[in-house]
Amino acid sequence: MENNKPLLQLIHLKKYFEVGSSFFGKTKSYLTAVDDVSIEINRGETFGLVGESGCGKSTLGRSIVRLYDPTAGQIIYDGEDITTISQHEMLKYRKRLQMIFQDPYASLNTRMTVSEIIGEGIETHNLYSGQEKLEKIYDLLETVGLKREHASRYPHEFSGGQRQRIGIARSLAVEPELIVCDEPISALDVSIQAQVVNMLEDLQDNMGLTYLFIAHDLSMVKHISDRIGVMYLGKIMEVCGSNELYRNPLHPYTQALLSSIPIPDPKHNKTHKRIILQGDVKSPINPPEGCRFNTRCRYVKDICREVTPQLKEVEKGHFVSCHLFE
Ligand SMILES: Nc1ncnc2c1ncn2[C@@H]1O[C@H](COP(=O)(O)OP(=O)(O)OP(=O)(O)O)[C@@H](O)[C@H]1O
Ligand SMILES: [Mg+2]
Repeated sequence: MENNKPLLQLIHLKKYFEVGSSFFGKTKSYLTAVDDVSIEINRGETFGLVGESGCGKSTLGRSIVRLYDPTAGQIIYDGEDITTISQHEMLKYRKRLQMIFQDPYASLNTRMTVSEIIGEGIETHNLYSGQEKLEKIYDLLETVGLKREHASRYPHEFSGGQRQRIGIARSLAVEPELIVCDEPISALDVSIQAQVVNMLEDLQDNMGLTYLFIAHDLSMVKHISDRIGVMYLGKIMEVCGSNELYRNPLHPYTQALLSSIPIPDPKHNKTHKRIILQGDVKSPINPPEGCRFNTRCRYVKDICREVTPQLKEVEKGHFVSCHLFE
């Protein structure tokens, strides 16, 4: 019974950053990085999150693992509200909820050996010690395609792809349930992206992991995701099954994102028209009133400039936030 419940539920989640105040400090301005996001992630699934740079993907991921304190809304993990629990109480969830960071260069402590980096979580959660801990570290290195000899080396001795593998081994070390994978392959060469994705998929099968997989473009997440959420200026514009999103994209923004993916089959190319987005990408400091996408939408109507559309289920399991569907 319990397993049918979503593993993670975000309910009207917001994360605003304060970006300065007026001369007398009376009015503050906020950057609305994550603005009223409600999604659910089921046990064992991969939920892909896509959107352009700066739309709030990393901020959402970091808020989920409580590296940021949310401004409003709720994070429900396995039925428990973890939105405002203390860092001390969060410790037990740190074991269950891990994050692989976007930048494999910045996310590893350069003064620690690989063994110390991977072993840190094992120690914090008292999982193994002594020889057992060392064996576990060796196992993890082999799991991510590195060698046990690598344990005594430092991050600067590795390539970008290898560092990302170290980051993955670190997150696996505590035997988590859900991993927020923040663009785990974007910084890597195309030739090794597929290897890392395949590895993440194998790990998921073997360990029953749940992923929130963040990426810039849809071509990267299609293959790996069960469902996909499309984000624009802090808001979720569309959520549905991965195949459904490609077959039947409803939101004008999703349609534009999809049209920018090159199609290898020339037969299809004739009917494949690229939609060039007009208008500016607005800043999350002064987001447009109404629908966040109204400044670039081909179908914009008056209501879109006035009323913010809500995410609505328009077909079974297919949610869209757009006045065209109200
Ligand atoms: N710590 C912070 N303080 C202030 N503003 C921040 C902070 N972190 C992110 N932002 C801002 O929040 C917005 C969303 O940033 P975020 O890093 O979440 O975007 P993203 O979708 O992950 O982008 P990318 O694809 O480039 O990684 C941006 O406007 C960014 O400048
Ligand atoms: Mg990011």
